[in-house]
Amino acid sequence: MDHVAAILLAAGKGTRMKSGLVKVLHPAAGQPLIDYPVAAARTVGAKPVVLVAGHQAEAVQGHYRGAEDIRCVLQKEQLGTGHAVACAREALAGFDGTVLILCGDTPLLRAETLERLIGFHQAQGATVTVLTAALDDPYGYGRIVRDGSGAVLRIVEQKDADPEEQEIREINSGIYCMDAAFLFGNIDSVGSDNAQKEFYLTDLVAVAVQKGLTCLALESDDPEEIMGVNDRSQLAEAARILRRRFNRELMLSGVTIIDPDQTYIDRGVVIGPDTVIHPNCHIGGKTIIGSGCTIDNGVTISGCRIADGCHIKSGSVLEDSELHEAVAVGPMAHLRPGTVLHAHVKIGNFVETKKIVMGEGSKASHLTYLGDAEIGRDVNIGCGTITCNYDGVNKHRTVIGDRAFIGSDVQLVAPVTVGRNSLVAAGTTVTNDVPPDSLAISRVPQVNKDGWRLKKK
Ligand code: UD1
Ligand code: CA
Repeated sequence: MDHVAAILLAAGKGTRMKSGLVKVLHPAAGQPLIDYPVAAARTVGAKPVVLVAGHQAEAVQGHYRGAEDIRCVLQKEQLGTGHAVACAREALAGFDGTVLILCGDTPLLRAETLERLIGFHQAQGATVTVLTAALDDPYGYGRIVRDGSGAVLRIVEQKDADPEEQEIREINSGIYCMDAAFLFGNIDSVGSDNAQKEFYLTDLVAVAVQKGLTCLALESDDPEEIMGVNDRSQLAEAARILRRRFNRELMLSGVTIIDPDQTYIDRGVVIGPDTVIHPNCHIGGKTIIGSGCTIDNGVTISGCRIADGCHIKSGSVLEDSELHEAVAVGPMAHLRPGTVLHAHVKIGNFVETKKIVMGEGSKASHLTYLGDAEIGRDVNIGCGTITCNYDGVNKHRTVIGDRAFIGSDVQLVAPVTVGRNSLVAAGTTVTNDVPPDSLAISRVPQVNKDGWRLKKK
């Protein structure tokens, strides 16, 4: 394949989104729309990728800050797709290969399709190749006008099409390959004498034909791929299709997904074979899950690393946490960022954790808050234990040694240390360090008053 560069048109506002956020930054299946065509362009080896930004250009540029292969150019006024492409001229100065032109709002486009388009364009020695699709309802799209022999003549926009042209079902996807020299040599000759008073990129097709250059159309196998997102209903539809694709890939790689239509796994999530995902789970943020895990109903996981054989029970929420082998969590547990659970740890229902390390085999089975704590191995944390880590100004650490036993309803007023193999009796408020192998107990002595209720009556 000859050298390919890409231009991605993303200057439009996306008026129909009715949003304060520019359209291409709206997420679908966990990533902004624009990430999808950018990824496809990268997969086919396009370099550089020139991003034409306009509305909220700073936010769009900021999204790709540090990406060396992406060059952002500004289209101050949106004067049409032809004008947008012309804005990329300087960024591609000296480039003389194939320019791939894409839109920022077509997240369903597959890299395979682009590969086919580029391969076809280059093998045929074409000057312009348009990716097209035959639609049952072509309304709104530009139409491909061919002559009697089937050769492409020009593209006519919906608003400029006569009744006969409106009958044409073959539409312009807005995705093209063009010879760089032809593109930048002729884009300025395109006028704006049309219904929208815009500079149409599509007019370059007629220009190429008039010059006797080869102008071809390649029909996409799957019209779904070229679907553009214009409003939030299409955004939901595109996200649904993307999720279906990711879920299918996961299932083919050995993951059981009980109901793929009700499982929300973002792009980039990795899951090992023989893991079972029950319905209504949301898994995103670069999460990695090992093999042989079970994720029950209604679990939300983001930014976690979960090793093999873990069981996450219903209704749990896990954020930016690390779980080693065979950890059990939930139901209805909340692991907040910075939670590290070593092998065979058990976190039960209504337990909240934050910035803690818990050693192998330790358990907190019920109704507990553990924050800013370092907990050793084989520790038992009783029901209702609370690390009092915050004094209203600063956060303080709790340290609990190996094999310590914390009874029910214990408050650990941090900073505080419980030595290894010590026992803290139920109901104790620990304010001083507990040495190893000891008993800590702080209770108000109990008083029984015989017959007290009877006297009250
Ligand atoms: C365009 C095509 C149409 C095709 C359709 C496919 C033209 C004239 N028409 O129509 O043939 O069927 O796409 O979806 O090209 N943009 C800019 N700057 C501008 C104008 C547009 O960056 O000045 C960007 C938009 O943000 C968008 C893309 O170009 O990503 C397409 O623009 P849009 O106005 O949506 O074109 P359509 O009318 O859909
Ligand atoms: Ca459009």
